[in-house]
Amino acid sequence: MRRSLVVGNWKMNGSLVQNKDLVGALKQKSFPSNVEVVVCPPTVYLPQVADLVNEDSICVGAQDVSHQANGAYTGDTAAEMLKEFACQYVIVGHSERREYQRESNTTVAEKCLQALKNNITPIACVGESLEQREQGATLSVISEQIQALIERLSEDQLKSIVIAYEPIWAIGTGLTATPEQAQEVHAAIREQLADAGSSVSLLYGGSVKAANAAELFTQKDIDGALVGGASLDADDFCAIANSF
Ligand code: PGA
Repeated sequence: MRRSLVVGNWKMNGSLVQNKDLVGALKQKSFPSNVEVVVCPPTVYLPQVADLVNEDSICVGAQDVSHQANGAYTGDTAAEMLKEFACQYVIVGHSERREYQRESNTTVAEKCLQALKNNITPIACVGESLEQREQGATLSVISEQIQALIERLSEDQLKSIVIAYEPIWAIGTGLTATPEQAQEVHAAIREQLADAGSSVSLLYGGSVKAANAAELFTQKDIDGALVGGASLDADDFCAIANSF
């Protein structure tokens, strides 16, 4: 079923002390009961954050997962391991990983499968570069990224994932896609997913702030947000979640 979600991607930020302060501040806030709120700290802090959160209104997610179940994959973390630390979500194929770790569409689909096998909801990220948008290739780039998921996941598996559309040019830049630009891509993704489309929550990501969230959330195919920078501030993150 489509659910409203606001996911905080802390990226490579935080420390034992900062995490404690941020989670402490988040626990003082009230979040709408119809919105699932997720925080994704760096892997090493998952046990700490899972312990600190320790409540139903905030879920914990990871920022990446191995494409393999276990074995000789130095530095990787298996989905089964994430599950041991109460991880309910995992971000997969973020554009920073696609760029710096050369993750392909196939790898992203394999990571989704590993997460699903362990009852962790993958949040699969797709998005185009500025150059691709300027060339008018946005919809074809996104379609190729979505097609890789459709080819490797069953319809039931597709229904269980979350997809985040994050234009690369909008990530961490202060530039946000207009609600209409975001809606156009979200509608195309939902259509491509065919029968699974009506069940999949589609998030928008890229410089989401309290000031622009409400307008984005009015769009019919936008079910929530993947938030980077603004998720490190409890007031901003809470205001975004309360923008529905
Ligand atoms: P941003 O990051 O909100 O800082 O643009 C979003 C993301 O990378 O998920």
